[in-house]
Amino acid sequence: MRDPTESLKDEPVPDIAQPEDRVGIEDFERDARERLPQMVFDYYEGGAGDEWTLAENRRAFDRWVLRPRFLVGVEKVDLSTTLLGRPIPFPIGVAPTAFHRLAHPDGELATARGALSLGAVMVVSTISTVPLEEVAATGVDRWFQLYVMRDHSLAEDLIRRAHAAGYRALVLTVDTPQLGPRLRDVRNRFTLPPGIGLANLPRLPMPDGRLPGGRAAGSELSDLFAAEHDASLSWDDVAWLRSVSPMPLVLKGILTAEDARLAAEAGVDGIMVSNHGGRQLDGAPAALDALPEVAEAVDEHVEVMMDGGVRRGIDVLKALALGARAVFVGRPILWGLACGGEEGVRRILEMLRDDLTLAMRLTGRRTIAEVDRSLVARAQGSWGGP
Ligand SMILES: Cc1cc2nc3c(=O)[nH]c(=O)nc-3n(C[C@H](O)[C@H](O)[C@H](O)COP(=O)(O)O)c2cc1C
Repeated sequence: MRDPTESLKDEPVPDIAQPEDRVGIEDFERDARERLPQMVFDYYEGGAGDEWTLAENRRAFDRWVLRPRFLVGVEKVDLSTTLLGRPIPFPIGVAPTAFHRLAHPDGELATARGALSLGAVMVVSTISTVPLEEVAATGVDRWFQLYVMRDHSLAEDLIRRAHAAGYRALVLTVDTPQLGPRLRDVRNRFTLPPGIGLANLPRLPMPDGRLPGGRAAGSELSDLFAAEHDASLSWDDVAWLRSVSPMPLVLKGILTAEDARLAAEAGVDGIMVSNHGGRQLDGAPAALDALPEVAEAVDEHVEVMMDGGVRRGIDVLKALALGARAVFVGRPILWGLACGGEEGVRRILEMLRDDLTLAMRLTGRRTIAEVDRSLVARAQGSWGGP
């Protein structure tokens, strides 16, 4: 582990030296831990509070077993499907995560190029470290994630810019009225190094909660949210966003049937079932556990996606069987980025995609349409059936 205060500026970020050594996402995570300053690794890896929800996101996958079918002829497996009415080559996308230049000098540009090389959708964060227009110029299939600040004209500007730059959907994150209690970041006094900032909101100053001597008093990001983010956001604002945005609207962070029904009534196009990777409300259910009730509540009127803890092809299968149309991954992309920039991101997505193909073969599913509820059963030591 590196010293948390070590400057990132002169970090050498060598490209993947021996990619064959990394055969699972955990191998990328191990190497990212070695490469990144501790403050950055902790920011990426950590969750809120006791990190119970963070751990639940993974454990939830263990609560389901797969019910394989055999002798169905699986030589050809087709992963293609559609998302918000557009074809995608496989149902795995890049979740919005902040500050990619903390992992690699090319930041979100490298992520976008890696995603583009496989045709994956990338959701670009409001708090990216490369301007949204430059990310768009890579040609990646892109959606824009929105944080609404107190000054609503900032959101209207971002929406205009994202639409002009060819973003195909607007993803409103609803689970972050205030930043969750990320104790690692408070302990590390998380701060952005000089030269890395909010590229989409250059006029929004990072709050200067610094102690004498130049160190931040706590997490700079937490201070930013407390000072600038609009905690008064309500369902009325969903109507406002629909009125000002020509893009399809996805609500990210919905975890209950009640909110899913309100989202459907509000006319949204998509729901991303998510607990923000365990970084907001500790004690919230695992995303996979919340998925069935959300999917059931909207009954195919709204496209349901999920993120949180997806690390293997079998995880993707379980999420799809429980009602998701596609899944998104957050941290694995950052590990890929830290290990090898564009090529690292490509490897992560390729690994997940190929692992999904393998899982489809082993469960006797040839197309995404064949992945249905009968594929999973509760793991209770005995097979309960579908
Ligand atoms: C380092 C980091 C930064 C994140 N930044 C954002 C963000 O800016 N906006 C957002 O909506 N979600 C953000 N998220 C949440 C992710 O979009 C996603 O919900 C989560 O990472 C999925 O879980 P996973 O990391 O287990 O795949 C962030 C997550 C991480 C790990």
